[in-house]
Amino acid sequence: MEHLFDKLKENGESNIYPLHMPGHKRHACGKLPGEMYLRDITEIEGFDNLHQPQEILLELQRKAADLYGAEESFYLINGSTAGILSAISAALPAGGHILMSRNCHKSAYHGAYLRNLTISYLYPKVVGEYDIFDTISPEQVQKALEQEPDVGAVLIVSPTYEGRISDIGRIAEIVHKKKIPLIVDEAHGAHLGWADGFAENSCRLGADLVIHSVHKTLPALTQTALLHVNGNLIDREQLKRFLHIYQSSSPSYLLMASIDNALDYVSGETARLFGDFLENWNDMLDRLFGCRHLHFLPETSERKGVKQDVGKLVISTKGTPLSGRQLYDILLNKYQLQPEMASESYVLAMFTVNDTKEGYERLTQALLEIDGRLTDSAVTDGVATDDAAEEIPCRMDTVIQNQGAIPLAKAWDMGKKVVNLAEAVGCYAGEFVNLYPPGVPVLVPGERISEETYESICRWIRQGLTVQGVEVRERKNSIKVLKDVQEE
Ligand SMILES: Cc1ncc(COP(=O)(O)O)c(C=O)c1O
Repeated sequence: MEHLFDKLKENGESNIYPLHMPGHKRHACGKLPGEMYLRDITEIEGFDNLHQPQEILLELQRKAADLYGAEESFYLINGSTAGILSAISAALPAGGHILMSRNCHKSAYHGAYLRNLTISYLYPKVVGEYDIFDTISPEQVQKALEQEPDVGAVLIVSPTYEGRISDIGRIAEIVHKKKIPLIVDEAHGAHLGWADGFAENSCRLGADLVIHSVHKTLPALTQTALLHVNGNLIDREQLKRFLHIYQSSSPSYLLMASIDNALDYVSGETARLFGDFLENWNDMLDRLFGCRHLHFLPETSERKGVKQDVGKLVISTKGTPLSGRQLYDILLNKYQLQPEMASESYVLAMFTVNDTKEGYERLTQALLEIDGRLTDSAVTDGVATDDAAEEIPCRMDTVIQNQGAIPLAKAWDMGKKVVNLAEAVGCYAGEFVNLYPPGVPVLVPGERISEETYESICRWIRQGLTVQGVEVRERKNSIKVLKDVQEE
């Protein structure tokens, strides 16, 4: 089969003079490596067109569909973000009603806003002591659909950013009884379904639309993603129209070659890559479970990768004098280990098929050392603060307090004013507020700001976490709220 990366190499080395875009004309300039410029093209003769694929891109998309068990797949060069926007837009008419989990990525909210959708939320439970959003249960979906009979599509995020995997098979059966589509934001699950020991991917579990960020969990360049479609509940022409709207008209062939390359590489050596991945992962977990203070997800009972994804290690500092941010700083500054993120009471570390034994070894050693120095009263490395030991409400409890809102599609366009954060309690949010990463909104425009949310935001800022949507103005934390609100 012909590969995009081979064709780009051939083109870069050919004698053909580029009287076309991109403007670098295949010559390196400045400090970036020349190879990048040699391979970087957009649509030219012989390279097909992403917005109307007929040759190599069509073939590659078919190959992706075969690998994931989908009827049709699309290459995305604007990340899963473009896939989620397109999926939501195609699954529902403008003004429709979506049922979605409240821990969806911001792109889902943006899709709902753009199509003027009414949103009903599924609130995930929280995983016991870890303060992370858990799965959405089939029973929850069933109940919500009974309560909201005019819902036109359901959107679930699975695996979550922290790796929680919902029972998509059962949820798909429930959703399909209503003859409406199920969209699964599987941005964090492009590695699912490839080998034993990993959960199945949602295309094979009955979902109608599935979105994968190839760049998140497979070895591909940033922004690469796939959208898969199955069944007859989605109008494919409509879907293509929205892909056309949301994706660049100059798709990067480097990015597309990177999708091709990643899938080709992983499918060529599946058993070895995923076998080594599982072995290294399990060895690390075996050793980490010897820690006396730090706690880990997956817990021992969840080692099979069914409910907690292989590759997502949640390191909880609850009950220790360290906050998540402090553990993150120690890992980065003392051990030169860059975690994926820090939250109040945990750190997230990610592994994929491309991690080396050295990576596992360095994290394991570091955590064993840190844990060994954590005595019940000791403060490690002199960085603990009062907040670390403070009993903190979990993030989902904070989010639930904000219910009773003005619909997003209306609220985001309403007049706003900037107020001091301290004066915002009881007001309606005028902008999204995200504890970043991963971009799951704590406040959605139109939601009423509760005392609990206010206190949580202040605490996150004190702890040095990134809170998007709160700005410092005149040395005070400020937030946009709606003005002149008539409650609905
Ligand atoms: C659950 C989830 N969905 C979608 C996205 C968007 O993915 P991308 O960055 O590929 O656009 C993210 C990004 O972090 C995410 O966490």
